[in-house]
Amino acid sequence: MHSFSRRRYFSVFKDESKLDINYIPLHLPHRGSKLSFLNLLFRFVVERPGKMAQRVLITGMVGTGKTVLSQRFGLNKVKEAQDKGINLHYIHINCRECSGSLFLILQRAIVKFYPNFPRRGYSADELLHILIQILDERDAYLILAIDELEALIRGGGSDPIYKLTRVQENRLGAPQRLSLICILREPSHLETLDSSTRSTLQHNIIHLEKYSTPQLRDILYDRVALAFRSGAVSEQNIEFVAESAASDRGDSRYAIELLWRAGKYADTSDSSEILAEHIRKASVSIYPVIRKDQISSLKLHEKLLLLGIARRFKQTKVAYISIGEAEEAYAIVCEEHNKNPRKHTQIWKYVKELSALGILKTEISGIGQRGKTTLISLPKVPASDLEKELKNTLYAGRR
Ligand SMILES: Nc1ncnc2c1ncn2[C@@H]1O[C@H](COP(=O)(O)OP(=O)(O)O)[C@@H](O)[C@H]1O
Ligand SMILES: [Mg+2]
Repeated sequence: MHSFSRRRYFSVFKDESKLDINYIPLHLPHRGSKLSFLNLLFRFVVERPGKMAQRVLITGMVGTGKTVLSQRFGLNKVKEAQDKGINLHYIHINCRECSGSLFLILQRAIVKFYPNFPRRGYSADELLHILIQILDERDAYLILAIDELEALIRGGGSDPIYKLTRVQENRLGAPQRLSLICILREPSHLETLDSSTRSTLQHNIIHLEKYSTPQLRDILYDRVALAFRSGAVSEQNIEFVAESAASDRGDSRYAIELLWRAGKYADTSDSSEILAEHIRKASVSIYPVIRKDQISSLKLHEKLLLLGIARRFKQTKVAYISIGEAEEAYAIVCEEHNKNPRKHTQIWKYVKELSALGILKTEISGIGQRGKTTLISLPKVPASDLEKELKNTLYAGRR
């Protein structure tokens, strides 16, 4: 048997597509109650189709799961309707991708039914009536999700939303075929709408709160199992990603991107698992946070302590070290630099200082550890970058 290369080309990923922003997971941890509420609001669709139409508004910051919640709901509902022989469609359209134009939004919706529908020759009003006509012809019902509604409001004020919500009102007696899910980050955008359009939308609001660290952890656990080979991401590192994302913005989108990029760093460094350093690298590549002047303005012993900590993180795989380990690493650095190490209480103050600056993060060890101790992590900067920066300023100081 020949072996042409000793290098093994493997990847920490099992299925990268599961980390794609467009992937719609089967289960949405911590959004179960919102999903049930949506189901309740749209119960009529399968029980008494055509008897009413619904308008729902979903709000929440970036990465609170608005888009995925709506899409998961849509897939489930269409399946449920199909099983009952009801011709229900769910179409999800992003207003920003349609340049905030009602015309383009409707065109995209119609093309789902008639792929060759002409691109020109109709006004938005005409397209809206054509859409309803198509639904009538096919005895079909449509839930139209209009995502990033701010773009539509910016593009056309109240008018487009008014038209969408009122199109059925002149068809008294005819089946109601078009329901809307509007998705919006900032409810304050509604204030620019006329009062009747606003009150139509405000009737059913589903507001999504930012995720907490434990919630992000649950979301990440599911994704890790789907996307990575087993053993490629440790529990501790899942926690680390969840915490980094939660302390920045409670944003699931950021958390999943961080995980994906960390996986890329692991692959390029031929590592069979994601290490904490890969996560730190991923985090600065998303946005760099630590500034050089911040490092150079630290006190000498803060720099020495930080250098010890950076080195310790560079040498180990772990994402957290105890304050005792930090002190040991600091003592070694002091020896190298011919300085007398400071006492424990002083070191404690430095650690607090550095965490107030956001360079370190501290927390009390949780369950599972004997006794309580303070754990230190380096949330934002790769240990190797920090070490390099510290060496530069320490060396400059000596001259
Ligand atoms: N509860 C959840 N369970 C699983 N994945 C989630 C959950 N919430 C959000 N996500 C994922 O996080 C990312 C961002 O969610 P998204 O719906 O795009 O947020 P938003 O539209 O509010 O900005 C997507 O990859 C999405 O699949
Ligand atoms: Mg979205």
